[in-house]
Amino acid sequence: MRIILGISSSISAYKTPDLVRRFSKRGSDMFCVVTRNARHLVGIKALETVSGNRVIMNLFRQKDPLTHINLSRAADALLIAPASGNIIGKLANGIADDPLTTISLAYTGQRFIAPAMNSEMWRSDAVTRNMQTLRNAGWTVIDPEAGDLACGVHDVGRLASLDTIVDTVLAHGEDLRGKRFIVTSGATREWIDPIRYITNRSSGKMGKAIYEELRHRGATVTYIEGQVTHPVRGAVTVDTTEDLMNAILERIGNADCLIMAAAPLDFRPATRHTQKLKKAGVTSIALTENDDILKRVRERDTKIKVVAFAAETEKLVDNARAKLSAKGANLMIANTIADGFGTDDNVITVIRENGDITEHERMTKTSCAKVIVNEAKALLS
Ligand code: CTP
Repeated sequence: MRIILGISSSISAYKTPDLVRRFSKRGSDMFCVVTRNARHLVGIKALETVSGNRVIMNLFRQKDPLTHINLSRAADALLIAPASGNIIGKLANGIADDPLTTISLAYTGQRFIAPAMNSEMWRSDAVTRNMQTLRNAGWTVIDPEAGDLACGVHDVGRLASLDTIVDTVLAHGEDLRGKRFIVTSGATREWIDPIRYITNRSSGKMGKAIYEELRHRGATVTYIEGQVTHPVRGAVTVDTTEDLMNAILERIGNADCLIMAAAPLDFRPATRHTQKLKKAGVTSIALTENDDILKRVRERDTKIKVVAFAAETEKLVDNARAKLSAKGANLMIANTIADGFGTDDNVITVIRENGDITEHERMTKTSCAKVIVNEAKALLS
């Protein structure tokens, strides 16, 4: 696993060569990025010796002018340890004024943060608010522990133990290794004639966030994409509901779990005209019903775990519960159309086969994806 370790100015920065050594021993390749003030607290040569890589302190002195982008793309995880109150404030507000904050802003993978500071700073309104922002944005927080602090008190604020940090990061990187998922995303299209079609408002953002979360956790993922606002390189692309169904049915034999975030059209024009339909005389378009893909999946495969989605305008839980049993799904993720369509965040309700439900607060789709993937993981265990 390639890990970017961001080291900011907390006295516990002196522990980071040992942290790097522990990661390296477990097979990780470590790239350290040290803030200006942290250089007073940790030896750069020590970090370079234990990591075997140059420490990044200035983006303009690197030979490759795109270091922050290349490094961000190549790394499997970004860990900031220790994270000072100052760096937490910058990250929460999107400030990118040095190598570490610039790399962090460009990084789209799994992000971890291990704060360490004086207890009053840790409990301050500003840090509390900024930490909430980071949690909402999908950062995994490795909370500080109680202990003797450099300021002479015994309280919460000490960097989490190095073993806790290493275990948390590596567990996230590997917990779904060997598990095989199919994730579907976006809207299908149904053609009226060669230039006109019907579709729906699905953006595919939720499906993409789930795909990324699964990849970051080591799963093998087949990503099947219809109409989406943000395409994924390497996705299997489909057009109509029938295409989507065939793409899934061809692959379910090799999958442990299907996460059906796509919004397939339930109907198609009864006739797909091969020539452009002339407007004169057209007053209505007859529709015919498409197959329900999940029902077909269940007929073919009784073992695969299925996570379905329900987007409703009314009676959210009742409608979603009815769909869960009608479609033979193992888990239903329900949201209202107003909350989840085309947006970057969502309010989801998780409905399990035994009837249990969990209603979540509004979160980014990245955070929703973590919840959904954790629920899917529980189905597989
Ligand atoms: N779905 C499916 N096949 C379809 C339509 C939907 O497998 N032809 C899946 C969706 O991907 C989603 C779940 O079924 O995971 C619920 O989709 P939704 O559109 O909410 O429900 P529908 O069954 O289409 O019911 P309705 O449109 O009446 O609400």
